[in-house]
Amino acid sequence: MFILLMGPPGAGKGTQAAQLVENFKIPHISTGDMFRAAVKEGTELGKQAKACMDAGGLVPDSVTIGIVKERLAKDDCQKGFILDGFPRTIAQAEALDRTLAELTIKLDRVVNITAPGSELVGRMTGRRICKGCGATYHVVFNAPKQNGICDKCSGELYQRDDDQEKTVINRLSVYQVQTQPLIEYYQDKGLYTEINGLQPIQTVLKDIVDSLRGGQ
Ligand code: AP5
Ligand code: ZN
Repeated sequence: MFILLMGPPGAGKGTQAAQLVENFKIPHISTGDMFRAAVKEGTELGKQAKACMDAGGLVPDSVTIGIVKERLAKDDCQKGFILDGFPRTIAQAEALDRTLAELTIKLDRVVNITAPGSELVGRMTGRRICKGCGATYHVVFNAPKQNGICDKCSGELYQRDDDQEKTVINRLSVYQVQTQPLIEYYQDKGLYTEINGLQPIQTVLKDIVDSLRGGQ
C-alpha cells in the first residue's frame, strides 16, 4: 500500500502514521523526522534545516526533494510506504510524480487529516515527545501515565523547538499558502480522501483504515 498522509501541522499525521505502520507493516517516511535526525547529528543538512524549521518556514524544495528521492529508492519502499509531510508544495508533488513513475510505483491514496487552526495551536504547544523512542504525547489529550516520562521506554519527554506558539502560528500560515493547493492537485487525480481529525485518535485511525480498505 502506497499512502500519502497530508494535513496541517499538528493535525495528527505522526500519531496516525505510528499506528498505520503497525497495521500495514510498511515504512514510515517523515521528512520532518528526517530533518530532526539531521539536526541531532549536526550534519550540513541539519544546520540548513534547523534555520528553516525554527522560523516555521519550509526547507528549500531542492534539498527536500533530493532526500526523499534517495529514501524512496531503497528496497524497503518497493512494497509500500506512508509518506508523511511530503509533498508540501506543488513543485514537490510534481517531483514526487516523476520519482514514482521512474520507480513504477502508483499511489493508492492521499489521506488529508483536517482540523481548524484554533485546535492545532493547542495540540502543538501541548505536544511532548520521547527522547528515547520518539513516541508522541499531549499534556491533555494523550498524556503519559507519569508526568514527563514515556509509557513505552521510560524516556524523558521534551518539547520541540518549533512548537512555541509564535512559530506554530507561522507554520500554519505557511501551510495555508504553500501546501493547501495540493488538495486540488490530488482531487484532480482522484486519489484524495479527507478525514475529520477532530475526532478521538482511535476514531481517526478507524476512518483512515476504512478509507484505505474501501479505496475511497
Ligand atoms: P513536520 O515534522 O512534518 O511537522 P508538521 O507537518 O508541522 O506536523 P507535526 O509533526 O507538527 O504534526 P502532526 O500532524 O504529525 O501531529 P502529531 O501526530 O504530532 O515538519 C517540521 C518542519 O520540518 C516543517 O515546519 C518544515 O520546516 C520542515 N519540513 C518537513 N517536511 C518538509 C517538506 N516536505 N518541505 C519542506 N520543509 C519540510 O499530533 C500533534 C499533537 O496532537 C500531539 O501532541 C498528539 O498527541 C495530539 N493529537 C494527535 N491526534 C489527536 C487527536 N485526534 N485528538 C487530540 N489530540 C491529538
Ligand atoms: Zn519512549
